[in-house]
Amino acid sequence: MSAIINNIEIVKTESSKINEVDFDNLKFGSVFSDHMLVCDYKNGKWEAPKIMPYQPITLDPSAKIFHYGQSVFEGMKAYKDINDKVWLFRPLDNWKRLNISSKRLAIPELPEDYFMEGLKALLELDKDWIPTNDGSSLYIRPFVFASGEGFHASPADEYKFIICTAPSGSYFSGDVKVLIEQTYSRSANGGVGFAKAGGNYAGQFYPTQLAVKKGYQQVIWTDDNNHEYIEEAGAMNIFVRINDTLITGPTSDRILDGITRKSIIEIAESQNIPVEVRKLSVKEVVEAAENGTLKEMFGAGTAAVVSPISGFGYNGVDYDLPKFDDTYASYFKKRITDIQTNKSEDPFGWRF
Ligand code: COI
Repeated sequence: MSAIINNIEIVKTESSKINEVDFDNLKFGSVFSDHMLVCDYKNGKWEAPKIMPYQPITLDPSAKIFHYGQSVFEGMKAYKDINDKVWLFRPLDNWKRLNISSKRLAIPELPEDYFMEGLKALLELDKDWIPTNDGSSLYIRPFVFASGEGFHASPADEYKFIICTAPSGSYFSGDVKVLIEQTYSRSANGGVGFAKAGGNYAGQFYPTQLAVKKGYQQVIWTDDNNHEYIEEAGAMNIFVRINDTLITGPTSDRILDGITRKSIIEIAESQNIPVEVRKLSVKEVVEAAENGTLKEMFGAGTAAVVSPISGFGYNGVDYDLPKFDDTYASYFKKRITDIQTNKSEDPFGWRF
């Protein structure tokens, strides 16, 4: 059965998979809800979006995504409150950032209503897939890639915008031990580090595998020049607390303008928590670890929200971070998830 609502053609699944899912034991992003939104870019314009049963897609082997990696994505989450109302967090920021990423990868930008109306229609249809257990959410993955064909190394003439969703539990289980990277780089000035381009993540896998072999879970990315400054943590932004001051690097060509990152900065400012957005050297962090002023390090991103770091390795030495209650990490995680799940007031107007 197909219907057209708000200019979106909707074809519903004939057999929902929802009863096959164990909502009490969800992993991150490994089961997918019944429907997906697909929108094609052809002949110089985005065609009307369609919602259809979640299914494989067929591409020509010469599709440019396979050869030249023209692809960008976003990460978002939907939550359901105790009254069954569905909430998103700062979704327009995801739409804007998708287009910022697309522009850098020479991908055509997507109109706001295609993103927002498509998302709303998809969530309306699959709202039963939004988990309500603590720490769970419906992870939303909007992405755009080059489906146009040909080996010529130039932008494709056809693209697909897809949104699929996955009921998900926590991204990490437990604390994370990290290795400060001294050889590889995630990004460089003039590069694509600020964009959520698929290739940025592929480039992280090998250095991360090397770190995992040494007993760490993630890599702390440093600047591409001399590996002197702390920039990001795995696929997340990073915050470091020295004494009571929270420090994070400024966004740049190399650092993603994370939505969780900027929310933490705004919350900190509103609570008079000292926060500094500035370059932070590895030397300063190591010295703070040695003299006992390094209190916390944590990653911040949509998937994990806030992910505490338990220790770091640098120059062959392991440094442990102190363990204590009432950390900034736990405060920001609770404050943000309470806003996201409608458990608290939202003085910032972020809930949607
Ligand atoms: C997110 O936090 O949504 C991310 O982009 C991380 C992702 C690579 C899982």
